[in-house]
Amino acid sequence: MKCAVVYFSWSGNTRFAAETIAKKTGADLYEIKAETPYNSNYGKCCDEAKPECYGKTLRPIKPIEGLDLAKYDLVFVGSPNWWGTMAPPVRTWVSQNKDALKGKKVCLFQTHGGGGMQRVGKEFAETVGDAATVLSPKAFDGSSIKSSVKALEDFADERIAGK
Ligand SMILES: Cc1cc2nc3c(=O)[nH]c(=O)nc-3n(C[C@H](O)[C@H](O)[C@H](O)COP(=O)(O)O)c2cc1C
Repeated sequence: MKCAVVYFSWSGNTRFAAETIAKKTGADLYEIKAETPYNSNYGKCCDEAKPECYGKTLRPIKPIEGLDLAKYDLVFVGSPNWWGTMAPPVRTWVSQNKDALKGKKVCLFQTHGGGGMQRVGKEFAETVGDAATVLSPKAFDGSSIKSSVKALEDFADERIAGK
C-alpha cells in the first residue's frame, strides 16, 4: 500500500507526528502551508484563527510541490486541533483535493492541547464527503507527542492493516 502523509503544523507537534508516521510507513511527507502565515504569537494566532475556525473559512494555501495524489492508496492527513476543529489550511487542502481523493482511503490524525478529538474528526469526514473511505481518526496529546512515538507507529500500522 502506497501512503502519503499531508499535514499542517504551527508549533511543531503535528509535524513531529507526521514525520514519525511517514518514517514508520515509508510514506511520502508533504506540508500544507498557509499563503500568509499565522502570527507567531500564540494569543494573536488564536485570535486570528478563531473566526476562521468557527466560520469554516477556507484560508488560502500554497500549492504543494510534487504531490500527485494519484500515486497513493492511503493518505494520512494531520492537523492541530484549533478551536475544536481542523486548522483552516487543512480544511482548504481537503476541500481542494476532494476529487483527487476519490476511491482512496484517508485517515485523519490530530494533535491537541487537552481537548481531545472535539469536532475535528467529524468535520474532517464531512469535508472529505462520500467519495473516499474515511478511516477512524485519532487524537494525540500535543504536549507529550515526543513520547508518543510507539502510539503513533501503532496507529499507522493499524490503519494500514485495515483496523
Ligand atoms: C489557534 C489555536 C487554537 C487551539 N485550539 C485548541 C482547542 O480548541 N482544543 C485543544 O485541545 N487545543 C487547542 N490548541 C492547542 C493545539 O491543538 C496543540 O498545541 C497542538 O498540538 C498544536 O499543534 P502544532 O504544534 O502542530 O501546531 C490550539 C492552538 C492554537 C494555536
